[in-house]
Amino acid sequence: MAAPSVSAPVHISTSGRMAAVQHMARMQRLLFEVEREFVRTATTLIYRAGEPELKYLLCQHVWESAGHARFLRERGREMSGFGSGESVRESIRRLFNEAVMPSDVSVALAGFYRVIKPALLASYRHYLEATHHLADWPSRRLVEEFINDETRHTEEITPYLATIHASYWTDHLSAIVDSLGGLLGERPAIPLAAGSAWEHEKRAYTHPPTCNRGPYPTCSSAFSYDPDETPIVRSWLVDPKTDARVIRLMVYVWLMMELDAVDYLATIFYDTPEASFDLHHDMARHLWDESRHSQFGYRQLPKLGVDLMTLEHSLDLYNILVQMPPHERYAMMTMEFEAGSFPTKATVMDRVRELNDFEADTLLAFDRNDEQNHVRYGHHWLPQIMALCGETRPVDEFVKATQARFAELAKVHGGRTPHSLAPERRLTGNKVLQLALSR
Ligand SMILES: [Fe+2]
Ligand SMILES: [Fe+2]
Repeated sequence: MAAPSVSAPVHISTSGRMAAVQHMARMQRLLFEVEREFVRTATTLIYRAGEPELKYLLCQHVWESAGHARFLRERGREMSGFGSGESVRESIRRLFNEAVMPSDVSVALAGFYRVIKPALLASYRHYLEATHHLADWPSRRLVEEFINDETRHTEEITPYLATIHASYWTDHLSAIVDSLGGLLGERPAIPLAAGSAWEHEKRAYTHPPTCNRGPYPTCSSAFSYDPDETPIVRSWLVDPKTDARVIRLMVYVWLMMELDAVDYLATIFYDTPEASFDLHHDMARHLWDESRHSQFGYRQLPKLGVDLMTLEHSLDLYNILVQMPPHERYAMMTMEFEAGSFPTKATVMDRVRELNDFEADTLLAFDRNDEQNHVRYGHHWLPQIMALCGETRPVDEFVKATQARFAELAKVHGGRTPHSLAPERRLTGNKVLQLALSR
């Protein structure tokens, strides 16, 4: 008879006893959800932005944000009240679904970096003030590091925001953050004005049919068998008679063109909102690796005399893959393009070693190592992405069917980007040959 009156107070007293921990764990959970939504949605800026340096920087920020989310989840799970799942609450998801909506990428960039990132930094600062520095020492050290990262992100992006005027949009996003009382609900919530409209409720976000390369010239493909057409001549790459200096220049062009992998991989995050966090974490790493590979070429080519304004960017892979659903994009990338690149890359690496160019050997070795990881990611994650997209065929059968579908789509959506530059102004195989042998 006494049981009910005893058990109820015991329950309340248990939660009361742990209230200080639970209070901080709830904040960590919110921070985790915000960081993982940033990864899912800020990736939509990457293929819409034209400047390669900005794409590279966004890939780096996305990767660091994935790291923040991972450490928050790890520490959060040590604390009572973090929760065992990793889903994102609706109020946070709506904010990020809204943030991707501007059709002008610079407006979207301003929303992420003038509103959401500063709100996140304020939230980390609030956490640090609210927690006990000795009792919650393991979290404190993490949060201090994240504050340093967020401060640096703000500084790194500043040059790209300088000329953007988007106050109508940043006011709109700020009002949404205010309506939550800040990302942690750390201040009084200000209700949204009556009649304020959400863009993402009016129309669906879609990836653009082609990726943006800003001021750079474009083409369908950088690879062909014609030395008067493209900078990479397939037969020369594997011909033992080709001078190793020519191979080195061609492989740097190849690496730089991995910017297409950056752009099409970046489309998959937004399309898989129910993916496990670990999948998005590994894809964020994959994305950052590809951006580093592209930088290998982008930074080395000018040192070898290449004017980057004469080098056309190839758009075919993005243009074809964006027509396919996300699991097919991921399958083509990991099971076809990456898995299939090793034999040629091995031949190329052996040739480049003749030059005793330590930096080239190092870059190619790290590229190969990263690519091995990417194929491993593919084997690990493809079944999960297939399941998310409702694909039930065995993996092998699905991959074969996807390769065939890609070939069909390539007939329609491939080869549609004409050369921006006339042959005499464009970097071609024959120009690569002249340039390589003249130095
Ligand atoms: Fe790569
Ligand atoms: Fe890769």
